Amino acid sequence: MKIAVLPGDGIGPEIVAQATKVLEALRSDGLKIEMEHAYIGGAGYDAAGDPLPEATLKLAQESDAVLLGAVGGYQYDNLPRPMRPEQGLLRIRKGLGLFANLRPALLYPELASASTLKPEVVSGLDIMILRELTGDIYFGQPRGIRTLENGERQGFDTMHYSESEIRRVAHVGFQIAMKRGKKLCSVDKANVLDTSMFWREIVTEVAKEYPQVELSHMYVDNAAMQLVRAPKQFDVILTGNIFGDILSDEASMLTGSIGMLPSASLDINNKGMYEPSHGSAPDIAGKDIANPLATILSAAMMLRYTFNDEANATRIENAVKRALAQGYRTGDIYTEGTKKIGCNAMGDAVVAA
Ligand code: NAI
Ligand code: MG
Repeated sequence: MKIAVLPGDGIGPEIVAQATKVLEALRSDGLKIEMEHAYIGGAGYDAAGDPLPEATLKLAQESDAVLLGAVGGYQYDNLPRPMRPEQGLLRIRKGLGLFANLRPALLYPELASASTLKPEVVSGLDIMILRELTGDIYFGQPRGIRTLENGERQGFDTMHYSESEIRRVAHVGFQIAMKRGKKLCSVDKANVLDTSMFWREIVTEVAKEYPQVELSHMYVDNAAMQLVRAPKQFDVILTGNIFGDILSDEASMLTGSIGMLPSASLDINNKGMYEPSHGSAPDIAGKDIANPLATILSAAMMLRYTFNDEANATRIENAVKRALAQGYRTGDIYTEGTKKIGCNAMGDAVVAA
């Protein structure tokens, strides 16, 4: 199993080094992996004048999975758009055909006080949001700003989803639900949007192939409300690109800290890219204080979803739980009475656990 390791910018190299340390520990215990590093984002621009150097895309395409840190930094803010770090990210997602974005929201009991919601609402929370990543109004054509016959200007975008786009992401959703609590809630706006009516029809059809999974439908405005009212009613939420963008950010904050949240983006063969949900945090880069757990947990997702290695995925997740139970905290999740440690020491604590 080959992993392309792309640390990127800011805290990227620090947090990715902790995740590769954990993977190395598993390798010395029999896990068969090979890792190769390459540049992306501002680091790609610095090294090769391109946020996604050809060699990086080639390595990613030849690999089974990509482990990514984050991209972006103040020093690149004035570059022309095609040279900017985030272009590297958009291009690699497209280049790898990553259409299924998985973002779990999981609250560790030790961090219950980090959430802004009441403990009884969020304690034990474990939900998965699956967002379609390559279609919807974000990519629909035509789009732009036009002048109407009466001379008024108008901004417009186009929302559409093809049957194959809905079908393939729905299959991923049901397959994930099979590995979890066997409940899938499809979120749309079928009371208003034709695209959503079609989405609902196709998801309902795909559901027939997964009789063990309980399917429900919910309008997106209600889902936004239910996520803060009673989030534990959900297991897997399946939704389109724009609704998923908003709901996954909302759900991530139920758990309190962005430094804890992994993500996965999968292609049709379950090859994938794994990265923390947060950015490159230039404000704390190079200080050895970033939380590496989101990246370490992304490596666990990689073992589960691309390598089908549930045992080692669980092993990493249990080690993270144990390090937290031992009281180790980086600054972003520190509370009184716990032990504040740095990024590197947190990586060591997880390896030890
Ligand atoms: P950010 O997620 O990098 O940082 C937001 C806040 O959270 C900052 O105060 C930061 O210090 C803190 N934070 C983030 N990750 C942390 C961690 N692991 N441990 C402790 N604290 C952490 O978002 P921001 O500030 O909006 O963007 C900074 C740069 O990152 C920008 O250049 C942006 O374009 C880029 N970015 C990249 C993403 C990616 O590579 N996927 C996603 C989001 C932003
Ligand atoms: Mg977003």
